[in-house]
Order: sequence, then structure tokens, then C-alpha cells
Amino acid sequence: MRIAVVHGPNLRLLGRREPHFYGSATLEEVDLALYALAKELGAELELFQSNHEGEILDFLEEVQSRVDGVLINPAGLTHTSVSLRDALAGIGLPVVEVHLSNPSGREGFRHRSFVAPIALGTVAGFGKNSYLLGLRGLMAHLANPTTES
Ligand code: DQA
Repeated sequence: MRIAVVHGPNLRLLGRREPHFYGSATLEEVDLALYALAKELGAELELFQSNHEGEILDFLEEVQSRVDGVLINPAGLTHTSVSLRDALAGIGLPVVEVHLSNPSGREGFRHRSFVAPIALGTVAGFGKNSYLLGLRGLMAHLANPTTES
């Protein structure tokens, strides 16, 4: 299985950015942990980070034909982007949404996710482990798409 992993805006700042919300792991450490788990689960990853909404949409369109699913931390775009929601719905692949922090426990503007309604599921609040749990969930779904996995 091939999985696209997308990190949205500002996630390159991980490790330095509001560590009380996002933890001390850098983006590189998150990616290394994902690669290690992917190896264990037999997945191949294609990682992408951008601070630019349009670049993320272009990446999703481009990667659509060569991956089986998408693991995405849409970051701030979670709460603002109809276009990202439409792109994810449009490519027709299973999507898992992840967040390091728990947006539901934070400011009101973070409570709405445009992505959640079109995602298989959302994992939030576990720091770096949100990505790992999300990858496990996505891989379990792909192995057996007819069950709730
Ligand atoms: C985030 C939560 C979002 O509300 C925020 O805008 C981010 C990071 C998270 O991983 O906890 O940039 O997606």
C-alpha cells in the first residue's frame, strides 16, 4: 500500500512552535517515526509539507493515481478550507485526519473541521502518536475496507 502523508501550514515549525500544544517532536522526528511504522506495516509513504493551500491541492491531484489513501494534518486549513475538503473528497481516496493537539478542547474557531465529514476518522490530542494511530487505522481499513476496522 502507498500512503500520502500531508502536513499543512506551519508544521515545519514543530518542536519550536507552542510546545504546550504540539509537543517537542520536530517534523523530521514525526516523519522518521512514520517511516519506521510504515516499514512494520508494509506501507510506502509519500510525504509532503506546504504552507500553501494551492500546493497541497496540486499535490493531492498529482498523487491521486499512485496512492491508496491519505493521512493528513490539515493544520489551520482544517477550520477554513472548503477547497481542501473538496480536493480530498474529489480524489475519492480514504482519508484520515490527524491533529497533534485536541482542537475540540481549544478556541471555538478550532471546533469546526471541514475535513472531518469526508474523513474515515480523526485522531487528535496524542501529539506525534496521533499520526501513528492514524496510519494504523488507515492501513487496517485498506486491508479490510468492508469492516469498520
Ligand atoms: C493542528 C491544530 C490546528 O487547529 C492548528 O491550526 C494547527 C495544528 C494540530 O495538529 O493540533 O496548525 O492541526
